[in-house]
Amino acid sequence: MSDFFDVVLSRRSIKFVQAPGPTDEQLDLILSAALRAPDHGAVKPWRFVLVRGADVPALVDVGVQAGIAAGEPLPQPKVDNARKWLSKVPLVIALGCRPDPTGRIPEHESLLAVSAAVMNMLNAAHALGFGAFWSTGVGTYLDGVGEALGFDPLDERFMGYLAIGTPIDTPEPIERPDWRDHVSEWRVPA
Ligand SMILES: Cc1cc2nc3c(=O)[nH]c(=O)nc-3n(C[C@H](O)[C@H](O)[C@H](O)COP(=O)(O)O)c2cc1C
Repeated sequence: MSDFFDVVLSRRSIKFVQAPGPTDEQLDLILSAALRAPDHGAVKPWRFVLVRGADVPALVDVGVQAGIAAGEPLPQPKVDNARKWLSKVPLVIALGCRPDPTGRIPEHESLLAVSAAVMNMLNAAHALGFGAFWSTGVGTYLDGVGEALGFDPLDERFMGYLAIGTPIDTPEPIERPDWRDHVSEWRVPA
């Protein structure tokens, strides 16, 4: 069990990564961990699209085009930062959710099931020695971006990008919130 706590308690998001990314075997572990997430009603809402290597930087162009089409061009500094970031990233997992088509399970519960899967991927990537970073930059909420990446615009929700690769710099530990500031107790009223 200590391995588990070593991994979870030392994880931090790492944005700037480079090749090599996960091997097929390591990616199999990361995605298998994702699909251990809880899922009310067995909706199986997880939709992930892999973008690898030379295709990764083109994600910026997708966001830029969508911004222009929507009449909300992405600010140039944001575009420049995204290009700098994604130019070295070896793997992006585009994150999607297909909520329960019957509506029996509320949509937000499927979004939570995907979020739980992403958390497992962040931890799995860290356990394997990779850095990973969840971002909704690069136009995630612009019309057309999710669709351009292969998500159904009617039935699926695009939830951003999970970048994974080898950390460029050695990550420093960071101070974390104290759980005592976030936890209270409830008792049966006297
Ligand atoms: C849904 C979601 C979207 C995020 N989008 C961004 C983003 O666009 N840009 C950013 O700098 N951080 C973003 N973050 C925050 C980082 O992924 C990361 O959590 C944060 O830098 C804190 O690092 P930590 O995970 O080590 O605490 C997002 C986090 C979540 C959960």
